Amino acid sequence: MLGLSADNHHPLMLQRVTLGLVSLVAAFLTVTTFFRVELLHHLLWSNGPENNSSCPYGHFRLVGMKDCLSWLSCEMMQSEVTVMKLIGQGAVKQVFLAHWKGNKVALSRLAVSEFSNDFFHGLEMLKGLQSVYVVKLLGYCEDHTILTEYHRFGSLTNINSILEQEDHRSFNTWEVRFRLAIEYAMFLHFLHNSPLGPRVMCDSNDLGKTLSQYLLTADLHVVANDLDALPLVNRSAGLLVKCGARQLQGDFVSPEQLWPFGDDLPFSDDLMPPYDEKTDIWKIPDVTDFLLGQVEGSDVLRLHLFQLHRDCKRNLPQQRPSALRVVQTYKAVYTLLTQESELSGTYSGTSRDL
Ligand SMILES: Nc1ncnc2c1ncn2[C@@H]1O[C@H](COP(=O)(O)OP(=O)(O)OP(=O)(O)O)[C@@H](O)[C@H]1O
Ligand SMILES: *[C@@H]1O[C@H](CO)[C@@H](O)[C@H](O)[C@H]1NC(C)=O
Ligand SMILES: *[C@@H]1O[C@H](CO)[C@@H](O)[C@H](O)[C@H]1NC(C)=O
Ligand SMILES: *[C@@H]1O[C@H](CO)[C@@H](O)[C@H](O)[C@H]1NC(C)=O
Repeated sequence: MLGLSADNHHPLMLQRVTLGLVSLVAAFLTVTTFFRVELLHHLLWSNGPENNSSCPYGHFRLVGMKDCLSWLSCEMMQSEVTVMKLIGQGAVKQVFLAHWKGNKVALSRLAVSEFSNDFFHGLEMLKGLQSVYVVKLLGYCEDHTILTEYHRFGSLTNINSILEQEDHRSFNTWEVRFRLAIEYAMFLHFLHNSPLGPRVMCDSNDLGKTLSQYLLTADLHVVANDLDALPLVNRSAGLLVKCGARQLQGDFVSPEQLWPFGDDLPFSDDLMPPYDEKTDIWKIPDVTDFLLGQVEGSDVLRLHLFQLHRDCKRNLPQQRPSALRVVQTYKAVYTLLTQESELSGTYSGTSRDL
């Protein structure tokens, strides 16, 4: 009898204790989910920990520096910067890892003298577009050198290998990946409404090329790096752009970038009609699709982006959404899905424990 009653009481007590624990665990999960979402929101909307790092024009401040310094001059670059090794080679520039006063920095040098104009155009853009969206300029010299902040993760092309590394696995989520896509769209919105007028990201004839113009920062943000080909769209002057003087092919570039007159008429730059910044919008779905990768939740996300991305791929440029509308829709979808996963996270946690 004693044994029985004890047996009767014991499971009941256990159940109460378990229930208590379960509520605690559920509460804990809710709180941690909340903080995780808050943290993500913070990371997402404050544009990184360097939230108050902006300096007056012509100045910069690296992480850990108290004051803003003016851009290094030729003399300072020559005496204070030590070149270490080649880390990148494009058509226009050679990029070296270098040291400056204990900081790792990136030194770019013009590689091919024919591209001097592109180099100086890139420098003008870098100077004029300094912001959270663009790599930090630290100095330059008319002898064709540019000093910028170094980002050890390299270009956005590396995103998969970086996020798949053992110690970054916890960041390999749709939230982090989508945030990169949002920042990419935010940069395009900035570029299309920039202080230097509406600009088009022309150096983007295929996916790899497009990704290689952006760097991934160590705290997983996107900054535009290569600004060598940003022609101006001046609507009031009726001025549109062409991305280079050569014929473009393939379906990564927008339809209006293709030669419209068929095979009968040979390509001629004089006859090729110009276009506007909506070419950048056409390319957004491909870039975002790549950035989202294949992780839990990225396919659900793709479904939510289906309509917007279809609009980006409209043949008529003027029917495509603006970069701002892409950003707004992305942010709305992000919020919707984080709220959903917050709820399902809490519920499944609770029901599993019960
Ligand atoms: N600040 C940096 N930190 C880390 N890596 C960098 C940095 N700047 C450039 N790189 C690396 O060097 C590569 C080439 O740089 P960049 O795109 O500026 O050269 P480019 O000659 O202008 O290229 P393109 O052929 O696209 O014109 C980048 O894709 C990147 O991998
Ligand atoms: C800096 O952070 C604050 C609060 O997190 C935010 O309101 C503000 O917009 C941020 N500023 C910039 C320039 O990102
Ligand atoms: C941001 O930096 C400026 C200049 O260093 C400083 O005066 C200002 O107080 C800072 N603001 C915040 C909110 O930290
Ligand atoms: C656009 O063209 C007009 C008229 O030619 C000119 O006044 C204006 O400065 C140009 N805008 C930019 C951003 O260059």
